[in-house]
Amino acid sequence: MYLGFRSKEFVILEEEYKNISDKFVLTTDDGSYGEKGFAINFLRQDIEKGNIDAIYACGPLPMLKAVQELAKETKIPCQISLEERMGCGIGVCLGCAVQVNAGEDTVYTHVCKAGPVFDSNIVKI
Ligand code: FES
Repeated sequence: MYLGFRSKEFVILEEEYKNISDKFVLTTDDGSYGEKGFAINFLRQDIEKGNIDAIYACGPLPMLKAVQELAKETKIPCQISLEERMGCGIGVCLGCAVQVNAGEDTVYTHVCKAGPVFDSNIVKI
């Protein structure tokens, strides 16, 4: 479990995550709590040690894009959970549409119906 927060005041559910994790890394961007830096950098270190078989990520899009690139680079299976704004939640309003690869083509799909979790190889962030 690699958790990243902006600073100490934003840390939530630390004990809950710690209790369900074999390995637990908490980071803050400003170093006010836990390790200083981005969680993905600690994930990268453990990937380089060969300790990671799969990645499951949720969070802001820039972080997901970085995780997606890391998974592609290291060829580690990865699933990402997208947190799009949803209007209807039933596939009608198109408010949650994201681009995905479909063979040679790029198409749109609904996060509300097809997701929110996607294989990181198909989503265009
Ligand atoms: S939220 Fe309306 S289509 Fe997904």
